[in-house]
Amino acid sequence: MTHPDLFGDAQAATSDLSAKPVTSTAVRAAQLRAALHHHAHRYYTLDAPEIPDAEYDRLFRQLQALEAEHPELLTPDSPTQRVGGKVLAEFAQVRHRVPMLSIRTETDTKASGAEAFDARIRKELGLGDAQPAVGYVAELKFDGLAMSLRYENGVLVQGATRGDGETGEDVTANVRTIGQIPLRLPEGVPAVLEVRGEVYMRRGDFEALNERQRQRIAAGAKGEKTFVNPRNAAAGAVRQLDSGIAADRPLSFFAYGLGEVTAPADQPLWTTHYDMLMQLKAWGFPVAEQTAVVEGAAGLVAFHQRIAAQRDSLPYDIDGVVYKVNDLALQQQLGFVTREPRWAVAHKYPAQEEMTQVLAIDVQVGRTGKLTPVAKLAPVFVGGVTVTNATLHNELEARRKDVRIGDTVIVRRAGDVIPEVVSVVLDRRPADAPQFTMMSHCPVCGSLAEREEGEADHRCTGGLFCSAQRKQAVWHFAHRRAMDVDGLGDKLVDQLVDSGQVNTLADLYHLKLENLANMDRMAEKSAVNLLQALEKSKQATLPRFLFGLGIRHVGEATAKELARHFGQLDAVMAASEDALLQVADVGPIVAHSIRTFFDQPHNREVVQALRDAGIRWAEGEALAPTEMPLAGVTVVLTGTLQTMGRDEAKDKLEALGAKVAGSVSKKTSYVVAGAEAGSKLDKAQALGVPVLDDAGLAVLLSGQKP
Ligand code: IVH
Repeated sequence: MTHPDLFGDAQAATSDLSAKPVTSTAVRAAQLRAALHHHAHRYYTLDAPEIPDAEYDRLFRQLQALEAEHPELLTPDSPTQRVGGKVLAEFAQVRHRVPMLSIRTETDTKASGAEAFDARIRKELGLGDAQPAVGYVAELKFDGLAMSLRYENGVLVQGATRGDGETGEDVTANVRTIGQIPLRLPEGVPAVLEVRGEVYMRRGDFEALNERQRQRIAAGAKGEKTFVNPRNAAAGAVRQLDSGIAADRPLSFFAYGLGEVTAPADQPLWTTHYDMLMQLKAWGFPVAEQTAVVEGAAGLVAFHQRIAAQRDSLPYDIDGVVYKVNDLALQQQLGFVTREPRWAVAHKYPAQEEMTQVLAIDVQVGRTGKLTPVAKLAPVFVGGVTVTNATLHNELEARRKDVRIGDTVIVRRAGDVIPEVVSVVLDRRPADAPQFTMMSHCPVCGSLAEREEGEADHRCTGGLFCSAQRKQAVWHFAHRRAMDVDGLGDKLVDQLVDSGQVNTLADLYHLKLENLANMDRMAEKSAVNLLQALEKSKQATLPRFLFGLGIRHVGEATAKELARHFGQLDAVMAASEDALLQVADVGPIVAHSIRTFFDQPHNREVVQALRDAGIRWAEGEALAPTEMPLAGVTVVLTGTLQTMGRDEAKDKLEALGAKVAGSVSKKTSYVVAGAEAGSKLDKAQALGVPVLDDAGLAVLLSGQKP
């Protein structure tokens, strides 16, 4: 991305510093300021620094030293003012010369809210159906706090909060600490320019700040607290009387409008809202890249949906989008109702964070014995669903967040991500709520709970003695991607294990109709179906069986690799850790886990019992990778193939021992090029790598080398 150099000779100024002797201290201070302005803009706003941080710090310290020696050289726009330091007794009041309005919120959070706004605008403007679509600017609705920045002759002289819209607070010292806010504007800006926008905190900065706060609290610091959400943290920082503290809390800024501007009425600087935003951007203010000019209701709806899809991956919170009529003459024609412009509306998204209470902290036992603390919550509707549980992962995590029974917590559910407790509202903690500690024994079977060196998780040591682990082992074995036993749901597994009818996996295959008939809510038809499903599952494959055993760290992909490498179950069971390490994707932890599993006599007995019960699969020959037909062949796939998709071709080639690579090199054996193949084909031709079409691929897949 290129950007006009806002500060003219900043570059020259930087190099001058190291090259020529400076003529006077005042000139040198000015050069340093110009250079630092330039680099701060590159760093904070464009995210494209030109010099290392250390170099910036060096220039910064030079200027600080100069100003300390010559206080008369200190200007209000000096970058040294960004570090804060001033402590106020209270904020002065600021009367906004142009009031800071609020904005009407469209009540309908669905896409139809955008249509309702467009319909209102058209009606107000007296536009009939035949008349063209209205042009809008669609923006993000940032979740921070409104700020008015006043520049006089290009220098930031005041930052003020919205207050009641008429009168706000003078928070200039704090605003100066925000790296993205220019302290000085380029030549040629209006003599008075008030830029309005949102001060906010990025999510990553918020997380880091809260982590620091937690450490301060843990170290016994008085009066420190964690923040509920980024908006709350941003508001707290802006309203700090000690600007040194404000400087310590990383804030960001987006511009979205104007207050007072001295511009000759006969020579408007811009005629649309969008042009105004682009001018602000050119002057050095951050403007969100998503900001778009759209046409009519359809354009608004499309924007609303596009941003909804991006919302969770943005690095900062938004609570909706804002639509504004683009043409400033039309804005004027539409005017205001009380304190709200008729030409703009906020269209919100459903909230992703809500407050609720922790009723209990339960500990759940997983298939491999992992003990997971789970916060049981008073039901709360957030991110489109009712949430009653949130995992706290493990003891360390539960303590890091310091979630306690009775706490009021902020729960977040963004997109399809599982709900999580983001933070605790400490002011609402009941007196003497105890810190969470993991129990010393499994809550289900009473076996010792242990945490291994270097691990975060506690585990129940009961193994298959623990009914919780047994239940999940059975459920996993029956899983669609393992042995695929249809009709064996968790409720039924619970009953079968609790009633003692299923103690090991093999017991499943000894179930009779009469055992099942005694179960709750079990119709005879379902019982018959289940027995049939169990019978059918005996025709297995080795990878499914291996996966179904539930060996720790052996997922579906590893099970496939093991089956491919060893061909036979006995070979897998007998393999040493070294032999296991030869398998693709198997590292020391996985190898150790497999060896440990098969070393347990109990597990070998279960495997034997399952075989005795009649489970069968086609045992293959152990195929050492070097013996496979396409061993040593490297293929690159490019373009659109006629006969199959690239993923399918990749699977088939790999099954024959070929390696499928992403880029072409001298080591590539073949490039398979389909329609519209691009640079990879060019490269193959340049390097003289043989190029195959679909027919050539078919020869390869028959195990021969064309
Ligand atoms: S325009 C004349 N645009 O939402 C219209 N406001 O009441 C003035 N906000 O707290 C507001 N993003 O700080 C506008 N892109 C955006 C905004 C935005 C967030 C905030 C604003 C105020 C509230 C509107």
